Amino acid sequence: MDKDKTYSREIIHLDKEMEIVLITWQPDAESMPHDHGESSGMVSVISGTIVEETFDKVTKKFLASSTLKAGDRTFENKDTIHIMKNPSSGEVAKTLHVYIPPLCGRGIIYLRGTLEKTREAKESR
Ligand SMILES: [Fe+2]
Repeated sequence: MDKDKTYSREIIHLDKEMEIVLITWQPDAESMPHDHGESSGMVSVISGTIVEETFDKVTKKFLASSTLKAGDRTFENKDTIHIMKNPSSGEVAKTLHVYIPPLCGRGIIYLRGTLEKTREAKESR
């Protein structure tokens, strides 16, 4: 990821049952594609705009893109692979994430190339 286009994670709460994380997304920041291990999660957009792109866990094919504004929520489960990004080139975005059980970095990062090929194929249709 470009050094100037990063996101930062602040753990708000962590115990054996739950992890709550505040993520601050700099303009144009984008996560790597990832799953969430055995955790289920809820993401609430606090400020700014977030675009979520989801992929099929088995085929790795692109499923959907959705734009989330402040107050919107999305959910992550054991089948979710997604990318989250701040589409704004000027505005910071903030999201609050709740994971049960705690994620603690146990999600798996996927090879970006596989997913980007799928995205390019979709966009050229
Ligand atoms: Fe996620």
